[in-house]
Amino acid sequence: MSTTLLPPPRETEIDPGAGGGGGWTGVRLVTAVIPPSRLEQLQAAAAAGGATGMTVSDAGGYGRQRGHSATWMGAEYQIDFVPKLQVELLVSAADADRVVDALVAFVRTGRIGDGKVWVTPVESVTRIRTGEAGLDAL
Ligand SMILES: Nc1ncnc2c1ncn2[C@@H]1O[C@H](COP(=O)(O)OP(=O)(O)OP(=O)(O)O)[C@@H](O)[C@H]1O
Ligand SMILES: [Mg+2]
Repeated sequence: MSTTLLPPPRETEIDPGAGGGGGWTGVRLVTAVIPPSRLEQLQAAAAAGGATGMTVSDAGGYGRQRGHSATWMGAEYQIDFVPKLQVELLVSAADADRVVDALVAFVRTGRIGDGKVWVTPVESVTRIRTGEAGLDAL
């Protein structure tokens, strides 16, 4: 008996977002945490990448440098949670890489604290007005 070695399935064939009872939605959630001053550049990147909408929230966080120190009335203290914006964009799986690439290109200054962007699979999306689901809901 011979064993056939199959190549690993491509990402488009096994949707890691399928989850328990979910199905293939073809939708990805792009989450970015950026300095508030870079929102305009992010909006331009989102448009260039084909994103149709976004949610922006005030956030605070730190990365590898763990905040920064500041001085008030001669006393030095540590600011752990640096003000940031958290941006969420639902996009098609086909557009996700383009959105991330555009976002990195437009938002980047090269300085520490430029931010982070990550992509997660989405199990279900529904447009409330129409009941459309999945890619049709974007
Ligand atoms: N590991 C993480 N998990 C969750 N959120 C993170 C993580 N790292 C960074 N963030 C969020 O992203 C924001 C920006 O991170 P930041 O750009 O400082 O990342 P970094 O890895 O320290 O990169 P750099 O060295 O360029 O500063 C943080 O304020 C925080 O809100
Ligand atoms: Mg940092």
